[in-house]
Amino acid sequence: MNLYQEGVGDSLVQDENYPPGISAYLEDEKIFLESFLPFTKLVEVGCMFGRYLTWCLDSDIQYVGIDVIQRYIEMGEKRVFDEKIHRERVSFIQSDAVYLHNLDLGSECVLFFPFNSFGNMDDYQRVLLSLYKSNLKYIICSYDIGEEANSIRREYYLKCGFSDVTLLSEKRGVKFKSKYGLKSWAYNPDYIIKIMSDIGIKSNYKMFGKIGIGYYSENLASNR
Ligand SMILES: C[S@@+](CC[C@H](N)C(=O)[O-])C[C@H]1O[C@@H](n2cnc3c(N)ncnc32)[C@H](O)[C@@H]1O
Repeated sequence: MNLYQEGVGDSLVQDENYPPGISAYLEDEKIFLESFLPFTKLVEVGCMFGRYLTWCLDSDIQYVGIDVIQRYIEMGEKRVFDEKIHRERVSFIQSDAVYLHNLDLGSECVLFFPFNSFGNMDDYQRVLLSLYKSNLKYIICSYDIGEEANSIRREYYLKCGFSDVTLLSEKRGVKFKSKYGLKSWAYNPDYIIKIMSDIGIKSNYKMFGKIGIGYYSENLASNR
């Protein structure tokens, strides 16, 4: 079962389901992203219905939203229509992130994986391979794997209705899982940096806020 296809995953991006620790994470994620400005085009990978669309419009940054779920893309398109947003500034593309390198995104954009979208991608090694082939700048935002992050995430997933959620901790990192389709990894930075390096990707990472970790390409400088 695909968590997002069935609509069960929609609860994960509804503000009323965020415990204070997740609301704080999202504020910190935005500040982290802002630390990489200036850039002119953001490609949000795992965008749902355009989490960072308003932020891009307010910051005069071109926006591309990519998600594997067609329904989210249609909801994003509807926003563009309803809010009469200029088509040159925004587009939505339905695609699996494993095909990023095949998309015509231009060379100047920053690929941005928000709110642990990367940790929800089953084929994460193929996504990284695609990132490598694309040769584009990237920022991947995820969670720390310590107790505080785990406790905030548990509270969040419970509030989202995943009453049976369980945590698995291993060398690869921490996974929250539910029989209702939730499968959300936060990788151990040592593990994922090694996987990236084996593929040929040189990555930096930084903690942000209390529970955030952001990975970013070497050719992107964070000025924090
Ligand atoms: C924004 S994240 C939400 C994660 C959640 N906040 C958590 O704590 O794990 C999930 C988004 O990633 C998208 N997604 C998952 N796998 C994908 C893939 N392979 N390619 C593109 N988008 C994907 C989903 O459709 C969904 O819109």
